Amino acid sequence: MKEEIQGPSRTEIWKMFDQISPTYDCVNRVMSFGLDQLWRKRLCSFLPKKSDMRILDCATGTGDQIIALLEKKPDISSVVGIDLAEAMLEIGKEKIARKPYAHKVEFHTASALDIPYPDNHFDCVTISFGIRNVTDIMAAFKEFRRVLKPGGRVLILEGTIPRKKWLRSLHLFYLRHFLPKIGGLISQNFKAYRYLNETIESFPQGEKFNGKMRAAGFIDVRSNLILGGITTVYQGDKDAHVYHSNH
Ligand SMILES: C[S@@+](CC[C@H](N)C(=O)[O-])C[C@H]1O[C@@H](n2cnc3c(N)ncnc32)[C@H](O)[C@@H]1O
Repeated sequence: MKEEIQGPSRTEIWKMFDQISPTYDCVNRVMSFGLDQLWRKRLCSFLPKKSDMRILDCATGTGDQIIALLEKKPDISSVVGIDLAEAMLEIGKEKIARKPYAHKVEFHTASALDIPYPDNHFDCVTISFGIRNVTDIMAAFKEFRRVLKPGGRVLILEGTIPRKKWLRSLHLFYLRHFLPKIGGLISQNFKAYRYLNETIESFPQGEKFNGKMRAAGFIDVRSNLILGGITTVYQGDKDAHVYHSNH
């Protein structure tokens, strides 16, 4: 596993997303052979078993996780998407405006490190392919936990490196040689896609990541591996509070 890399300024990583926003969705589809949409849907199977939920999607980008949430679970009552990259949010707003559930969605320009909502406000916080880009993971966890209601859950979808040797070698080859070129060619921003793929290798994963979630106070922390660990949905609950009714 590589050590922490020096990419574009970590504090302004979101600015890079503004630059790659016009081709962001297209690159995702091509790079993952369309699987990224399935992975976002897969996250929905780890949602709390509750209807009428109020959800916060952090680092929402162009809103694909919001679309997956509302298409998989139409009884969600509302979703707020926050991100610092306004150009990404603009694309998300346009996409959601055409959907029948547009009235359930709000977007705001805000940081995952300073969430503009009161304590105990959301049933679930989601963040997909975003935690790797925030400058201070522990500060983000603290914010997620703060805005969750008692019994609320955080779900974190992130790219990971499989443990099985053959799959790991194959995936690393793909990450190092295929992804940066394809992403760079489509977006014409080779630096951005080199950075994004290198950070998958250097980012804490598995038990190391679970440990950080526990240190932030989350309980029942689990890593749910998808496709042998090419991606993982991490989950953790705010506390042991159990919802007493299904509303
Ligand atoms: C790889 S994109 C993921 C977008 C989306 N969640 C998805 O599933 O496609 C990462 C996003 O994290 C956002 N981001 C980075 N730092 C952030 C922060 N501190 N607060 C909110 N968003 C942030 C970037 O602007 C970018 O849109």
